[in-house]
Amino acid sequence: MRITLRLIVSLIVVVVFVALVSTWVNVRQEKAKLYEEVQSRSALLAESFKESVRNNLEAKNHAGLQKLADKFQSQKQLEGVAIYDAAGARIISSSALTPALAVNREAVNALLKKRQDETLTCVMADKIMFLYPISITLKGGEAARIVLFTNVSYIDYDLFKIWKRTLIRLLAQMILISLVTLMVVKWTFVNPITQMAEWMKNLRIGGSHSHVPPFKGDIFAPIAEEATTLATNLQAARHAAQNEARLRHEGESLWTPERLKEHIKITMGGRPLFVVSNREPYMHLKEGKDIRTIMPAGGLVTALDPILKAAGGTWVAHGSGEADFEVTDEKNRIKVPPEEPAYSLRRVPLTKEEEDGYYYGFSNEGIWPLCHIAHIRPIFRKEDWKYYYDVNKKFSETVLEEIEEVKEPCVLIQDYHFTLLPGMIKAARPDARVAVFWHIPWPNPEAFGICPWQKELVLGLLGADLIGFQTQFYCNNFLDTVDRTIESRIDWEHFSVQKEGHITMVKPFPISVAFQQPDKDGKTPAVKPEPRSVLKEMGLKAEYLGVSVDRIDYTKGMLERVKTVERFLEKYPEYVKKFTLIQLGAPSRTHIPQYHGFLAELHAEVDRINWKFKAKDWKAIIFLEKHHDRREITKFYKIADACLVTSLHDGMNLVAKEFVAAREDLGGVLILSRFAGASRELKNALIVNPYDIEQMADAVYYSLTMSKAEIEERMARMRQNLHENNIYKWAANLTEELVKLRMDDFKLTGV
Ligand code: G6P
Repeated sequence: MRITLRLIVSLIVVVVFVALVSTWVNVRQEKAKLYEEVQSRSALLAESFKESVRNNLEAKNHAGLQKLADKFQSQKQLEGVAIYDAAGARIISSSALTPALAVNREAVNALLKKRQDETLTCVMADKIMFLYPISITLKGGEAARIVLFTNVSYIDYDLFKIWKRTLIRLLAQMILISLVTLMVVKWTFVNPITQMAEWMKNLRIGGSHSHVPPFKGDIFAPIAEEATTLATNLQAARHAAQNEARLRHEGESLWTPERLKEHIKITMGGRPLFVVSNREPYMHLKEGKDIRTIMPAGGLVTALDPILKAAGGTWVAHGSGEADFEVTDEKNRIKVPPEEPAYSLRRVPLTKEEEDGYYYGFSNEGIWPLCHIAHIRPIFRKEDWKYYYDVNKKFSETVLEEIEEVKEPCVLIQDYHFTLLPGMIKAARPDARVAVFWHIPWPNPEAFGICPWQKELVLGLLGADLIGFQTQFYCNNFLDTVDRTIESRIDWEHFSVQKEGHITMVKPFPISVAFQQPDKDGKTPAVKPEPRSVLKEMGLKAEYLGVSVDRIDYTKGMLERVKTVERFLEKYPEYVKKFTLIQLGAPSRTHIPQYHGFLAELHAEVDRINWKFKAKDWKAIIFLEKHHDRREITKFYKIADACLVTSLHDGMNLVAKEFVAAREDLGGVLILSRFAGASRELKNALIVNPYDIEQMADAVYYSLTMSKAEIEERMARMRQNLHENNIYKWAANLTEELVKLRMDDFKLTGV
């Protein structure tokens, strides 16, 4: 209120001051104008009077003079005239004026004493009188003076009226200003602030409220934005605290981002985490004149982004987006995620030749098919190997620059693009704790032995202190491969390799997704999208939906999957016009001939099958070939009756886990390839052999005819597994293992 009062008073003072000054100036000008008018009127009258007075004076006709003087009295404001001789003695005056002149002789005398015909204003008989003298010369040189007396009291009255009007106007303005100020302050500030206080109170006491504060308007926009983030964080913190308390109470040990953060802080003593991968977590692409950010498809990014968000640090990766280097600083760094920066992304630029040789060539035409049993021949070229080596070197230089200032830094290297990197980093920084996580399968030694550089790859990897695989089976394959490839001491009991005094631990760390089971007693579950309306958007109808989400890759069993749909519809024709498979496919590595050819074959198969079952308003398979964001993908997960993950060979496959995580309603059946690492954990899925089309068609049928109780039972069990083995646990285990390794290392070597 005091602020409002101050505002009103200040406004009023300014308005009053301006009004008074301008009125004062106005009054002065008006006064001068009115006096000028009186003066010129008097002059005109005097001139017209002058000749008659002269004649009568010369003729000494006093009666005529008196008549003349009386004729000029009481005209408009003219009170009368008086005629004086040269000595100042009154000769004659208008009869109405005579009594006043007798009383106010001094004022007139003062005027007559002046030689010049100056005017005079004085009070006579309670009137303000304007005296206008004019001299006349008679025959014989004698002089006389005529004085005109005008009553100018009306001028003061006129001026008084101006002041009065001003004051009334001022009063009205003051009232208006006060009212408008009160209303503006109330609408603009008081109401929003009251609402904000109410909203904050609700937030504090945990009442029901929206995350978005109720106040709007550009003044409050920055506060509203900050308050929204604050509310979201506060609620997340409160939720996490409640969750922790509940877990402590129940004696469970669920991993949450908060717990991971604490864990990493404690285990790593506050040191930042350094992650290296080929694929970056955020890509900047051009869209017309704008720059758009996307998260690339693939399990690696899905898994690691939440960890760096929780732990903080730096992610070093190839900057492959066309606008990537337009948004980075001079060191090629940028803070991500864009909406709430939590860690640094250091982008490494690669030339076209480097990308061709290292990424498309050695990594994806060589190692990828080498490690995936998908019956695609690996291709190893000498020039690709050279680029692979050079790019590993380039990355090692970048990583060494990033960790320069950090004592005993922890470096987590990802995947098959960087088999040489652990050795290179370790050679320059023996104090660094280096781990490699191998996201894809590791084949048996015979299969791996195809690679002409198998020895270099194995030796490079053994530079790491810890190598993580998705499953125990891949760990076994790796140690077998080491055994067959190089001279070393393998400890099968501890699962480690000793080579020239350096020990590398080998362990399984099944990767997962950022999943936390919603509170059992908790909030209302998220609304499930309506399948029919989603289909309607695509102009289609179907009663049952299958969904598959993949990076388009020959290892994902996509051809087998579409053939499964064909076989299923042949075998169970009652599902024709009722069942549709929605296949979301993100294009990938399209410069590689095998991928190119695979995509063409897939399109041809989809067209063939759709043509075979062609019907109005319905399609057997909808192939949506584009990059979909997480929100879109989740929408399809939520409406699916079945999710088909039919990889021919897969390290883990996080699509299977994402599908389970999305099914809060416990609906949907997961059909999962036995050759995907995920099948080792998600045992309540319908496990299939993707090469057995007949079995897969039956699995689709089974998924659609399964009882609701069985569907929910299976889903609940899978969700419980995911709840206990989420990505935060994966990260915690991996980093903990890495940090405690050094001690084990000393123990094992006896140093
Ligand atoms: C797999 C690999 C990742 C890779 C991802 C996407 O998940 O393990 O290392 O990033 O596929 O493939 P891309 O070649 O597009 O990075």
